[in-house]
Amino acid sequence: MSHDPALNNSPAVAAQAVSWKEGKVVLLDQTALPKHENYLICSTTEELIEAIRKLAVRGAPAIGIAGAYGVVLAAQEVKKLPREKQSGAFDKKLKDLELARPTAVNLTWAIGKLKKLMDLEKTPLTDERVHQLLCEARNIHEEDIRSNHQIAEFGAQLLEKGPILTVCNTGDLATGGVGTAFGIFAKAYRQNKIPRVYVCETRPILQGIRLTAWELNRQKIPFTVICDNMAASLMQNEKISAVITGADRIAANGDVANKIGTYSLSLLAKAHSVPFYVAAPQSTFDLSLESGKSIPIEQRNHEEVLSVLGNNRPDYAIPVWNPAFDITPHSLISAIICERGVINYPNQEKIKSVLTGINL
Ligand code: MRU
Repeated sequence: MSHDPALNNSPAVAAQAVSWKEGKVVLLDQTALPKHENYLICSTTEELIEAIRKLAVRGAPAIGIAGAYGVVLAAQEVKKLPREKQSGAFDKKLKDLELARPTAVNLTWAIGKLKKLMDLEKTPLTDERVHQLLCEARNIHEEDIRSNHQIAEFGAQLLEKGPILTVCNTGDLATGGVGTAFGIFAKAYRQNKIPRVYVCETRPILQGIRLTAWELNRQKIPFTVICDNMAASLMQNEKISAVITGADRIAANGDVANKIGTYSLSLLAKAHSVPFYVAAPQSTFDLSLESGKSIPIEQRNHEEVLSVLGNNRPDYAIPVWNPAFDITPHSLISAIICERGVINYPNQEKIKSVLTGINL
C-alpha cells in the first residue's frame, strides 16, 4: 500500500472515499482524518483487505464500493495465473475480501454481484472480462450516488423543523455520494429546516467527532458534538426534532444493525417521543435474514477501547467487550428511508412491498 502526496489536501468539497484510478483502488485514509487528508493506493486485493480491516475505508456503502473494485483487483491478479489455477485463486481472494468486515452486508452484496458475472470453471479470465467487472463495479458506485440523492430527497421531506441528533458517520466518507442519513440532514439544513446537527462522538474510535464533524465543517453546517452518554440529557434539555442514523444491515423484519450506541438512541428517542429514522440504500437490506438476531456483529480490538488511557495505562489487565455494532429492533424505528421510498413503522410486509415495488 502506498501514499499519494499529489492527491493530498485537495480543496474539493465532496470527499471521494473510494475511487478507481489506473488499475488501482484509491482510498481517502479515514484513520488519519480529521487532521490529515492522506490517500492510500491499493494495488492488490491483500492491500485493500488490510485497508478495509483497519477502517481506512468504512461505512457500509463505501465498503461495498471498495469491495466491488477489490474484485477487479483480484481478477487482474488471477489473470496472470495458469488457467487451471484461476478459479480456485479467484474464489479464495473473494472470500478473504468478504470476511474483511462481516456486519455490513453491502460488501457481500457487491462481491456477489460481480462474482455472478464470472464462471472461471468454464471461461478463463481475459482483459475483456476484467473490463466487464470494472464496468459493473463502476455501476455499483454510480448507483450508490443516485440512491444517496433519492434518499436525501425522501428523508428531507419527512423532517420537522428543529435540531437533529446523529451517530457515527454516514456522509460522503461512508458512501459513494452525498451520504445516507447525512445527505438527509444536509439537504434539510439547506431548506432551513435544521438549524443544527448534534453529533455523538461515537466511541470507541470516534467516527462522529473525527469524520462527521469534519464533513459538517467542510459543508458549513452548524454542529455540536456530544459524548455518547449525553444523549438522554440533550433530549431532556432541548427539543430534538429527530434522530437519524445509517445502517450496516437491515433484516427482513426491519431490525437494523448499526454502529454501537444506535440501539440506546432508539430507546431514548422513544422515551422522549422523538422520531427515530434510519436511512440506507437497498444494498443494505438482507432479506435472507428473518430478524436482527442472525446479523453477525463484529468484535473489534480491545485496544480501540483502552487507547484513551494513553500513558496512564495501569499494569493490571482491563477486560473489555468491544462490539462494533448493535441491533435496533424494528419496533423502535419510526421509518426506514431508502431510494425506493419511506417505510413507516417497518415490518416484513412493508419492506418487501417497497423493495419489490409490489403492493402486497
Ligand atoms: O464501523 P463503521 O465506521 O464502518 O460503521 C459505520 C456505521 O455504522 C454507519 O452508520 C453505517 O455503515 C452507515 S454508512 C452510510
